[in-house]
Amino acid sequence: MNKVLFKNLIVPVCAAIPFLYACMGNSNHKNSMDSLNTKQDAAPAARIPDSANFSTQVDGKTVKLYVLKNNNMELAVTNYGGRIVSLITDGKNGKPVDVVLGYDKLDSYRKPKEPYFGALIGRYGNRIAKGKFTLDGKQYTLQINDGQNSLHGGFDGFFSKVWDAKQVDAKTLELTYHSKDGEAGYPGDLDVKVVYSLTADNGVKIEYTATTLKPTVINLTNHAYFNLSGAGSPTILDHLLTINAQRFTPVDTTLIPTGQLQPVAGTPFDFTKGKTIGADIGKTDDQLKNGKGYDHNFVLDAPSLTSPSVTVKSPETGIVMQVFTDQPGIQFYSGNFLTGKDKDGKGGAAYPYRSAFCLETQHFPNSPNTPSFPSTELKPGQTYHSVSIYKFSTEK
Ligand code: BGC
Repeated sequence: MNKVLFKNLIVPVCAAIPFLYACMGNSNHKNSMDSLNTKQDAAPAARIPDSANFSTQVDGKTVKLYVLKNNNMELAVTNYGGRIVSLITDGKNGKPVDVVLGYDKLDSYRKPKEPYFGALIGRYGNRIAKGKFTLDGKQYTLQINDGQNSLHGGFDGFFSKVWDAKQVDAKTLELTYHSKDGEAGYPGDLDVKVVYSLTADNGVKIEYTATTLKPTVINLTNHAYFNLSGAGSPTILDHLLTINAQRFTPVDTTLIPTGQLQPVAGTPFDFTKGKTIGADIGKTDDQLKNGKGYDHNFVLDAPSLTSPSVTVKSPETGIVMQVFTDQPGIQFYSGNFLTGKDKDGKGGAAYPYRSAFCLETQHFPNSPNTPSFPSTELKPGQTYHSVSIYKFSTEK
């Protein structure tokens, strides 16, 4: 911490508060910072959770926390659900910032109704209407876990599986999972590989591949919740967002796409020129009402791994995130279902309503029931392959 800031801000605050000993009697500076942060007006100090809190057995398999590093970033991933636990990069003034929501302990990731923090999502990201689809004349029934629909692969999705993990080198983690024919209702034995790696230019690259033994549908993504001001900061409404998408897929009241591709022009969904997430989120609009905010798939104009489809910036830390993907869509979700009730976030943080956003690269929701959308079918002999990169930099 900057010495001047410590002298001018922290010291007087410590002197004024009744739990003086927490600041002065305790030589552990981090603990005193944590006490100050219980008000939740700022993010707890960025640090990777204790790996011992993740070392255990689940379903007879070993769970661990893996840490990848390059010069500017640290990425912690657990093989339970393939979840990104921490992603630390520098903000302006060189202060490290953890930009993803998560927990300090594996147990929290396993609690009921956990909102998929950092998780790998499969077999199908987002919703399939009424948990049913037909392939080659046969109807399949999935787990209904979101009102009348199936969400993120059902109760038994990849987010809750223990993946086999191999840390290839300091910057690369390889996760594999075999999903049996019929798992969560989906057909075909499926072999999935996800490689997390840190790129030389400060990117987190996620590469997904899968093969099947029977025709099936697939839509893999990652469900990281970002707050570029730091996990535990109270809002993302001040973040500046640009999405290169002239169209989005409007939804019904159960968040299933209607099948149309609606122009964003003249609607709150127009992020083509960049605006804060909060600029139009409170407007009266049927689609915002259905989503309880933004919870929609954007149809990317030109998906690419060399030119970003999305750019987000925190005015507070100056951290800029660019999203590159080869997928046709991206789910922009503004954290409308976060409640802040649990206080088990990293460093004791609560994660309140709209204190994070997700940008889930994907095929469109409910594609298996919407023939006009790009196909999500995977046949034996084919290889599903997709790449997304979340790249970080800092501006003043
Ligand atoms: C969905 C939201 C859902 C969230 C957490 C997003 O991908 O679109 O509706 O609440 O995931 O489950």
